[in-house]
Amino acid sequence: MSKAGSGKTLQTGLGNKMWGGRFASGPDAIMEAINASIDFDRKLYAQDIAGSKAHARMLARQGIITAGDADKIVQGLDTIASEIEAGSFEFSAKLEDIHMNVEARLAELIGEAAGRLHTARSRNDQVAVDFRIWVKQQAALCRALLRELIEAFLDKAEAHAETVMPGFTHLQTAQPVTFGHHCMAYVEMFARDRARLADAITRMDECPLGAAALAGTGFDIDRGFTAHELGFREPTRNSLDSVSDRDFAMEFLTSASICATHLSRLAEEIVIWSTPQFAFVRLSDKFSTGSSIMPQKRNPDAAELVRAKTGRINGALVALMTVMKGLPLAYSKDMQEDKEAVFDAAGNLELAIRAMTGMVADLTVNAEAMKLAAGSGYSTATDLADWLVREANVPFREAHYISGRAVALAESRGCGLADLALEDFKGIDARIDERVFDVLSVEKSVASRTSFGGTAPQNVFAQAQYWRKRLAGEGE
Ligand code: ARG
Repeated sequence: MSKAGSGKTLQTGLGNKMWGGRFASGPDAIMEAINASIDFDRKLYAQDIAGSKAHARMLARQGIITAGDADKIVQGLDTIASEIEAGSFEFSAKLEDIHMNVEARLAELIGEAAGRLHTARSRNDQVAVDFRIWVKQQAALCRALLRELIEAFLDKAEAHAETVMPGFTHLQTAQPVTFGHHCMAYVEMFARDRARLADAITRMDECPLGAAALAGTGFDIDRGFTAHELGFREPTRNSLDSVSDRDFAMEFLTSASICATHLSRLAEEIVIWSTPQFAFVRLSDKFSTGSSIMPQKRNPDAAELVRAKTGRINGALVALMTVMKGLPLAYSKDMQEDKEAVFDAAGNLELAIRAMTGMVADLTVNAEAMKLAAGSGYSTATDLADWLVREANVPFREAHYISGRAVALAESRGCGLADLALEDFKGIDARIDERVFDVLSVEKSVASRTSFGGTAPQNVFAQAQYWRKRLAGEGE
């Protein structure tokens, strides 16, 4: 059990606990309250300890500290990691942040050697590397979760490649499409989100450790070694930029916001589709909630919450962009405000993707309701116009007009286009013959849409196969 806490000190000799001889008194309570970040940056403990272990090993390899001191430091840091994981570590606001909480405890555990760890380093590059590792890991996790969501959609797309539903524009029935095709639209969206995250990861894959406070250091450090130890491709190239850059967090939040926007659109469709009026899909019991007063209700609460989470994720992006705007180089304490928004957005995005994956995988499709709706609203009026263009060489604009008259006639009779008699069509335009009935059904309509990217069932199968192969090739 750690006896750390308010009694814990850094090895700074006399005077103020953390800042040494220069300060005669400790901070005001309000100063401490506004300054401390330990309540949230403790989330970075694993990354902080990994960074310190790599730094200590590097210092020993370079002959800056002894191998014996480095071993003590590494062992002490491992002990601290287990204390934190066991919940026995006592975090102290007096020690401000995760970096100083860890270092102070290290001093308690190993004594003088702990004071050598901070050689050739500053909290500025320390926090930059800790946070970067965390964001990188979270971006990779989101990519993996998005793959699961995509796979749920691929399963649904293949199962429903031939299930006809109405396609909408303006949420008005437009043309028949297949549910499989609709699912594949989301595959495209979430695949772009994965690609955006991968792209951001590539750019953030540079290690800022060793930039020290802002100017680099006079010690003969090996930044390539620490970069490699911590899983980065290479070290950053400019010490000022290294400690002042938060692009990695802004890029993560940008990708997260776009992804959350996609999720909100899917959520909205699920809300609409699962109403008794639409009844296109039924959410499983696992992903539905009831009402405390209305026993018939099956509410899509998870979808609604996913729709809402977009607000806080977009908010996090705006918050961080606003914190960073106008900051002079290099580090400013403003940047301590970078973390909470990112932590909140990341956690909620993770939850939203998981919830959507569960909902999509579990939902059942009501193919009959979809087909019925697909046939209403004169959804094959374009097919009639296209038929006139193809079979009677009518210019499209004129064909559009003729088809519109057929819709008006059917509407006045309260029937569908396919329910009109051949004489009705001939009365509108003599060039129409009985072959027109071949294109008026919703199945024929979707089957005819074979242009690349079109909704025809064969295209849906081909696209699903394309994505399965591509995902397999992408590794993670
Ligand atoms: N807690 C600080 C942060 O999150 C760590 C860096 C502090 N650096 C400093 N020069 N005060 O940004």
